[in-house]
Amino acid sequence: MSQVVSYELHGNIGVISVNNPPVNALAQVVREGILNAVQQAQGDASEAIVLRCEGRTFIAGADITEFGKPPKSPGLPEVLSEIENSSKPVIAAIHGTALGGGFEVTLACHYRCAIASARVGLPEVNLGLLPGAGGTQRVPRIAGVKAALDMITSGKPVPAPKAKEMGLIDEIVEGDDLQAAAISYAGELLNAGAPLKRVRDITIDPESIEPGFFESARKNLAKRARGQIAQDRIVSCIEAAVNLPMDEGLQRERELFSELVTSPESAAMRHIFFAERQAAKIKDLPKDTAQRPINKVAIIGGGTMGGGIAMCFANVDIPVVMVEINDDALERGLGIIRKNYSITVKKGKMSEEHMNSRLELISGTTDYADISDVDLVIEAVFENLDLKKEIFAKLDATCKQGAILATNTSYQDVDAIANATQRPEDVLGLHFFSPANVMKLLEVVRGEKTADDVLATSMAIGKKIGKICALSRVCYGFIGNRMLSGYGREAQMLLLDGCTPTQVDSTLEKFGMAMGPLAMGDLAGLDVGYKARQSRTDLPDDPKLFRMGTVLVEMDRLGQKTGAGYYKYDPETRARLADPEVEALIKEEAAKLDIEQREISEEEILQRCFYPLINEGALILEEGIAQRPSDIDVVYVYGYAFPVAKGGPMFYADQVGLKNVYDKICEFRDRYGEDYWKPAPLLKELAEKGSSFAEWAAEQA
Ligand code: 3HC
Ligand code: NAI
Repeated sequence: MSQVVSYELHGNIGVISVNNPPVNALAQVVREGILNAVQQAQGDASEAIVLRCEGRTFIAGADITEFGKPPKSPGLPEVLSEIENSSKPVIAAIHGTALGGGFEVTLACHYRCAIASARVGLPEVNLGLLPGAGGTQRVPRIAGVKAALDMITSGKPVPAPKAKEMGLIDEIVEGDDLQAAAISYAGELLNAGAPLKRVRDITIDPESIEPGFFESARKNLAKRARGQIAQDRIVSCIEAAVNLPMDEGLQRERELFSELVTSPESAAMRHIFFAERQAAKIKDLPKDTAQRPINKVAIIGGGTMGGGIAMCFANVDIPVVMVEINDDALERGLGIIRKNYSITVKKGKMSEEHMNSRLELISGTTDYADISDVDLVIEAVFENLDLKKEIFAKLDATCKQGAILATNTSYQDVDAIANATQRPEDVLGLHFFSPANVMKLLEVVRGEKTADDVLATSMAIGKKIGKICALSRVCYGFIGNRMLSGYGREAQMLLLDGCTPTQVDSTLEKFGMAMGPLAMGDLAGLDVGYKARQSRTDLPDDPKLFRMGTVLVEMDRLGQKTGAGYYKYDPETRARLADPEVEALIKEEAAKLDIEQREISEEEILQRCFYPLINEGALILEEGIAQRPSDIDVVYVYGYAFPVAKGGPMFYADQVGLKNVYDKICEFRDRYGEDYWKPAPLLKELAEKGSSFAEWAAEQA
């Protein structure tokens, strides 16, 4: 028997145990071990077989690191068919998460029991894949077509009690000893003469599916797929489960899985899976760095960001005190939080009781003395350095020793803020994204003097509140906003050169961005960027620069809030509509600036908008602002809705080829000047060597 899988007889029950930390992924040795154990059990004194796992979880899926490499025998389908064809009942005993191939293993078993806290799911879609070991054929047979489609296309795990209602779990077992409970359940099944239930024997009546069901599912899914093809292939597999016999359905599933596993989308999404986990690791910090306890949090400023940040902590049962300048501002801030939670309740996603218990965790004050006992403070007041320094000096005077003092600033110098205190080692940036209770990214900004345990604690608390953390050093705009500047600049320059706003935005949206940059400007308010530009002294003095944004603001077209910006907005539906007036205005402005307008290809739009991101990303790496290129990808995917199916800007650059990116940037430099297009030395070096960011990262590691 392999070391990671063991088999033992407990009376008349054979117990197969998988032990492949950390998550019992189905590596080749695990597949082989299970196969051998099931075969061994066929010839021994066992009457039933329990399949269980050691460690923190049941099998969490195929071993993702094996994808893209030559397949190793035995394949998972072979193992599953051995289980399903066993002459003795096989009972899966689930704890933790049975995900992907792990859940598919259980579906090939004849019975499934689980502890109540377990969850089961098929998250393959998040990796640009579909369940490739029978999940698309077995789940609809048990739970019905609609439930299967929802479960597999959402990728969301289902809690065991709900899975029982759906028929996916047969028994919820009690007690601390799952193995004993599963053995006892197996005994009960034997005593009751329970049959060998094989999911493959269930048939679905095609007449039970409404006409047009699959077509409309495809259409709905395409709307949110953003360049991903897995959703469409999942529909095809479930259609096969309805219309084809099991073996042909499995064959169809295999073919489509093979197509997806070799697709660029899945490669990009697998990159992000590992990048996300890597980003949480700080290179020079020992794994066992001590952490400070965080049991109570204060938020300074209950505006747009403060309110959302407070919700993040209340959602994980950590009490929060919100500090505002006066009672009115405090009431307004707390009111927004109440409103946000009630919207969730109205949508049926939270019970009233649950909402009240969260609201009870959030209190308010106007007196800093009330936060002297908190473990973590997050400041989210107006974006003004002097004000922030003043507040940090006050926090220094008020907060207990050891409290972590964080700023949510978007652009200000975290070191200057830290130096306003006597304890700069306790200060760092925790940069949330708007809306803070929804957006997944948290940039953890390491100041010059930030202590190791402050960083380790911040990474851990970020994970606890459900964020994906990426570390940044201090610079203007940190990783994300610093890179964004050239992207927004070029979107506007393209207008003067001959594009319409629709052309620019729809090209980027077709690429997979959730919203094009001009429409995004309209959503955020064009005055925001306008004001930010006015306070900058580092921008070239060039009338072309951000010209259209400026002209529109001066016409009081501030975006959606005034009903017009780059677009006009239908007052009833708020639909974005092309505006001939803006298109004429752009032509006029171009003429005033002597710019000869021309046809611009989609390819150029993508290059002009994305290559500044990549170039700035390369500078950020050279300067050590980001730890790795993949951290930058994580920032863009989770903070700026860069399409996950493209893997983030640095991964995308590697796919395009750094030489191609570099040559194009040089061409743009020759056309538009060094003020805007100056190739980063690292990009030049890697392009000339024929290397990639990924190779560079591997060398650095
Ligand atoms: N394969 C390889 N490594 C995996 C893995 C997998 N399926 N799942 C997790 N890991 C690794 C992580 O990379 C991480 O490694 P690191 O410590 O070196 O960074 C380590 O295991 C721990 O993972 P997490 O940090 O994510 O641990 P958590 O406790 O936060 O979460 C989890 C556990 C919920 C199981 C989460 O890891 C997860 O969601 N895993 C992926 C599940 C998945 O996508 N399964 C489907 C795979 S595809 C498939 O099964 C195809 C099949 O249909 C044929
Ligand atoms: P906001 O204007 O909505 O809220 C700021 C709040 O701070 C106001 O309610 C104000 O009354 C309060 N305040 C001002 N001085 C105070 C003081 N001395 N003590 C207590 N409260 C005080 O601002 P917003 O948008 O929430 O931004 C806050 C910070 O977060 C800024 O630094 C901003 O750059 C940053 N940020 C903003 C993002 C956004 O999209 N809005 C995204 C990420 C960061």
